[in-house]
Amino acid sequence: MLVLGIESTCDETACALVKDGKEIIANFVSSQIDLHNEFGGVVPELACRRHVEVIIPLLEEMFASVNLSIQDVDLIAASYGPGLIGALLIGLNCAKTLSLALNKPFVGVNHVEAHLYAAMMAHQDEIQFPCLGAVLSGGHTALVTIHEIGKYELIGQTVDDAIGEAFDKTAKILGLPYPGGPAIEKLAKEGDFSKYPFKCGVVKNQPLDFSFSGIKTGVLYAVKGQNTKEEKALSSQDKADIAASFQHVALNDIVQKIQKACDLKRFDTVIFGGGVTNNNYLKELILKKCPTLKTIWPTGQLSLDNAAMIAGLGYHVYQKNGSDSLALHAQTSIPF
Ligand code: KG4
Ligand code: ZN
Repeated sequence: MLVLGIESTCDETACALVKDGKEIIANFVSSQIDLHNEFGGVVPELACRRHVEVIIPLLEEMFASVNLSIQDVDLIAASYGPGLIGALLIGLNCAKTLSLALNKPFVGVNHVEAHLYAAMMAHQDEIQFPCLGAVLSGGHTALVTIHEIGKYELIGQTVDDAIGEAFDKTAKILGLPYPGGPAIEKLAKEGDFSKYPFKCGVVKNQPLDFSFSGIKTGVLYAVKGQNTKEEKALSSQDKADIAASFQHVALNDIVQKIQKACDLKRFDTVIFGGGVTNNNYLKELILKKCPTLKTIWPTGQLSLDNAAMIAGLGYHVYQKNGSDSLALHAQTSIPF
């Protein structure tokens, strides 16, 4: 079954063709980083306008590159949330329109679920369920029990900022470009992580929940001083030390909670998803602190927002539940 996937939850317009949930025929992403860079974060109105401009030419370019026609597609899948409402509407309505015009079935896909599926998609060996899923992206931070594809149970989540958002905001405070994650990781290599004793928040009675808003304020005070009238002059070494300390503390918090969740639930496998999984310091920490854990990471283009994961998971959604109604709404948040 050839599935067309469409993704437009945030600042990437993407389309992909995937066969039977696994085999990627084409995976096209048009990033909007250039558009949002000067604002230090995503501007929703600009994001939707760019999606409108890009989506049809991107589809045309993809079909031409693989010498296939849209008539060859058996199913159309699109992210229906969570994400920015205006951005979501573009990809979702494009998918619904194609479904209606071509008389092909349509399914809506949960973008966060798809981030977890991205790692499973490229994994060759059989996965032993139940296992832990860790979504570490710009918009989401969650730990879930994965019982099977499509059956999840939320066991921990952020109560404020997502981990990627914390990287992006820290980068902005340090005057680094957007997206902040890669910039912080690079700068942190020059720094000493023991210089700034930042702390992540503790969520009362929820040992697997995260809170990153406090650490962001900690970084702000380290950069500007608690009294903004006496702004500190920071050397480039100070900035590198702040980046290294932030990264060390925030990622250690995540690794500790992954370890705790696996101990509590007796899981021996973790499936990772989302853009923050590109961070090599995170991979080193996992290897060092949880050496016996089996880890499944998204590879290459599958870690950041992409439509291959949407087409791939769309195949399973359709196998399980059949097609969705075209009345399916875009949703800014979808509970697990
Ligand atoms: O999964 P994703 O493409 O988008 C969402 O669904 O949110 O993730 C983007 C996030 C951004 O916040 C970006 O700063 C972060 O992933 N990111 C990283 C790294 N590469 C991307 N964070 C830390 N280290 C990285 N190397
Ligand atoms: Zn995403």
